[in-house]
Amino acid sequence: MEEIFISFLKDKVNLIENELDKVISEYKTSPLFPAISYSLKGGGKRIRPVLLLASYCSFKDDVEKALPVSVSIELIHTYSLIHDDLPAIDNADTRRGRASLHKVFGEDIAILAGDALLTLSFENLAKVTSFNEKIVLRCIRELSINIGINGMVGGQVMDVMTTPQDATEEVLYYIHSKKTGSLMKTAIKIGGILSEIDDEVLNKLESFGDKIGLTYQILDDIEDSKNSKEDESKVTFPKLFGMEKSKEIATNLLNESLGVIDSVSLKNDLLKSFVYYLKSWLS
Ligand code: IPE
Ligand code: IPE
Ligand code: MG
Ligand code: MG
Ligand code: MG
Repeated sequence: MEEIFISFLKDKVNLIENELDKVISEYKTSPLFPAISYSLKGGGKRIRPVLLLASYCSFKDDVEKALPVSVSIELIHTYSLIHDDLPAIDNADTRRGRASLHKVFGEDIAILAGDALLTLSFENLAKVTSFNEKIVLRCIRELSINIGINGMVGGQVMDVMTTPQDATEEVLYYIHSKKTGSLMKTAIKIGGILSEIDDEVLNKLESFGDKIGLTYQILDDIEDSKNSKEDESKVTFPKLFGMEKSKEIATNLLNESLGVIDSVSLKNDLLKSFVYYLKSWLS
């Protein structure tokens, strides 16, 4: 079952890379361009923009219409990783197997590159012409709410303020749902907004996205822990629950997400296949 998503991912990654190139090419002469280019071309999996496209393609056929919107999600993701790696946050020297941005260009440029990508994401959204302005505004509203103070940034704030010693289960769920879940959920939900589906279906997509997004961070924790990349000072699922229980929680969430997506009438099995793709990471 996961093959459906894997082949969709392979098929769409090039489109996304080309669109990203197009978006930044306008700023080729800026002194910030080398840093932006380095971070955007680091070989990320492009899961979030692909999820937006998968969600859109669950209702519509003209995928290229949604492509410019999907790129805005990847710009946010990249900014969040640049800032996440900074000495003041996770102090990570490497990202995707090579030096993190601040290690190559310095902290000042890394902070500013993050600022620039965050801003560029909204500039890019505001320039979208393939959908009417009302729909675009809805996307901007959705994205800004979910990456802000009560969304991704809120999750990162709790992540830096919480030590493994004082973490409760409730706080851990909050951190993971927000720092990672919020953006993934938004990618999936925006696919639905662009498809102009009714609110009942949109709410189900949101619930599906919540479960998937939280699971994605649990899987990241499990991987980090297996590869001894876990940060001593941070609370994670394996730290609080142990490895076996963390895997069980992830599996249960994935099964719940299948229940939600099965209750929606879709054109294909793309979103369902994404769940199986994540399940394959657990085996
Ligand atoms: C890494 O996400 C950070 C998390 C929120 C878990 P990804 O593993 O999707 O990052 P890339 O873009 O593929 O490197
Ligand atoms: C990253 O979480 C979440 C955001 C950047 C918003 P992590 O700190 O766990 O991600 P990695 O392990 O550095 O990729
Ligand atoms: Mg972090
Ligand atoms: Mg980190
Ligand atoms: Mg991690």
